Amino acid sequence: MSRKEIIRGKRIGFREVLKSDLPLLSKWTKDPYLAYLVDIKNPLSVDYLRKWLDAVKKDFTRRIYAITLNRTGRNIGIIGISDYANREHGGCLTMFIGDARDRGKGYAREAMLLFLNHYFNVWNLNRIFVIVDADNSAAIRLYEYCGMIREGTLREYEEYKKGYVDKHIMALNKTEFDELKYS
Ligand SMILES: CC(C)(COP(=O)(O)OP(=O)(O)OC[C@H]1O[C@@H](n2cnc3c(N)ncnc32)[C@H](O)[C@@H]1OP(=O)(O)O)[C@@H](O)C(=O)NCCC(=O)NCCS
Repeated sequence: MSRKEIIRGKRIGFREVLKSDLPLLSKWTKDPYLAYLVDIKNPLSVDYLRKWLDAVKKDFTRRIYAITLNRTGRNIGIIGISDYANREHGGCLTMFIGDARDRGKGYAREAMLLFLNHYFNVWNLNRIFVIVDADNSAAIRLYEYCGMIREGTLREYEEYKKGYVDKHIMALNKTEFDELKYS
């Protein structure tokens, strides 16, 4: 699949991240809790993101997309896969909906199912996993809804606000996805 390929669902779609998206991405990273949940240590400047985007485009183990609303084309978040090196091992999924006003509307569910379907059935990956904060109930509920299974807990995996937090590793295999009613 080319990085430019547009994938479209019912209400949302994915497209490549453009330089014109970077001011919005930079703004989203200024939300400290969102940044923490997606493993960003400090707010990211547009200059930094420009270099990041150039590096991502050259990295064959990563794919990052803007999630956009079909109706208006507005970018509402990011979804991507990293550590993707081969079909069997699959990759690590990252996603967020940038503005709290766009959450709770089912866009993340649609994005996840579209993404999983694409990577399992078009790219033929065998496994997709995610590392999620043990307290991030919105994300855990979303991943469970999409069939992801908790495989274990990475205890005191990260330092946050002067304490250590646990993370869960959750994953889904292609066979399991194919058995779900959504695929
Ligand atoms: C985790 C995250 C992506 C979930 O996004 P979200 O927008 O809350 O998810 P959705 O809207 O798709 O689903 C949430 C709710 O919307 C509801 N929903 C589904 N379809 C809907 C629709 N068509 N209209 C209205 N609501 C709908 C669902 O009922 C669901 O609620 P439930 O699980 O209590 O039943 C979002 O909270 C986020 O970006 N968080 C910060 C970053 C983050 O944690 N990323 C994950 C890191 S591992």
